[in-house]
Amino acid sequence: MTRATITSTAHYVPEKILTNHDIEKLVDTSDEWIQSRTGIKQRHIVSEDEASSDLSTHVAKDLLAKRGIEPSQVDVIIIGTVTPDHLTPSTAAIVQNNINAQNAWGFDLSAACSGFLYGLETGSKFIESGAYKTVMVIGVDTMTSVLDFNDRETCVIFGDGAGGVLLEPSDSNDGIISSILKTDGSGASSLRILAGGSRKPASENTLVNREHYIRQDGKKVFKFAVKRMADVSAEILLNNGLRGEDIKLFIPHQANKRIIDATSERCGIPKEKVLINIERFGNTTAGTIPIGLNEAVENNLINNGDYLLLSSFGSGFTWGSILIKWNSLV
Ligand code: ACO
Repeated sequence: MTRATITSTAHYVPEKILTNHDIEKLVDTSDEWIQSRTGIKQRHIVSEDEASSDLSTHVAKDLLAKRGIEPSQVDVIIIGTVTPDHLTPSTAAIVQNNINAQNAWGFDLSAACSGFLYGLETGSKFIESGAYKTVMVIGVDTMTSVLDFNDRETCVIFGDGAGGVLLEPSDSNDGIISSILKTDGSGASSLRILAGGSRKPASENTLVNREHYIRQDGKKVFKFAVKRMADVSAEILLNNGLRGEDIKLFIPHQANKRIIDATSERCGIPKEKVLINIERFGNTTAGTIPIGLNEAVENNLINNGDYLLLSSFGSGFTWGSILIKWNSLV
């Protein structure tokens, strides 16, 4: 079987920054509370004329430039997002046109904070099947488009951002070597946007009741996240005969620094091997893992042959882990 490997990484966050002190002026909160309970100091937010396809287009162009290939060489574009520009057409279609990837087909994938990992799994299987040679996977969210800046339990957590990768056939047995992806819809009501879909179409009432914003049961999500992310990370290590210390870098979804610390501790992954950038970006939903991955690559934290563990959890509930033996082909 031909494995898939990551041959290019990129990320993009909007220029505008919203600090905790800025949020203190909007809701009853404090920089001290946000930092101590979540680890977040600031987040990037879009300007009025920016949307998820714009952030993704920056990423897509960078991915191609870094790999030195033409847009026409892309076969498939997969975009993980819960904040698409529109319900239809897909963000992938807009990006395909923006970068003039005339031979590519594409689609959006909805798995909240697990959107990038679900996309990576899907894209890898496309490569493994032999049907496609170049798959672009992007995780993007413009969370400020669904944030209620009157709700201190959600508005302090999220930010806007995008990251992505190119997948191509590996020239060895290395690359994306193992994955475990999960869904448990019994958690659906713990983290959701109630209105705007077919269950509750937009109406005057839904607007008045502020039902187009994301709502969560923070405590329930927190407990779920720690347990499930730790379980699945431990399981993938076991399945591959590895221990926490064998991992060069652990890139977990950045939702809360306390969740990351608890998860890595449970899996026996030393602190210095855990990538944390939540203080600068907040939770960018599908964006967190590919943003972290690109920062790791740009800072030369990963070399060929290193084991890299990615783990996520999100609304659905959705969660999973992917194990990579790095083989960049360049
Ligand atoms: N500022 C100040 N006080 C606050 C804030 C705030 N922003 N938010 C809540 N509080 C208060 C609460 O009202 C509560 O007050 P009380 O004790 O008087 O009742 C107190 O702080 C403690 O509240 P908790 O909910 O116990 O706070 P906790 O330590 O659990 O932190 C948080 C809350 C940050 C939301 C945490 O539960 C969390 O991170 N949960 C996971 C959320 C998450 O990751 N969501 C995204 C999932 S990913 C996706 O797919 C989109």
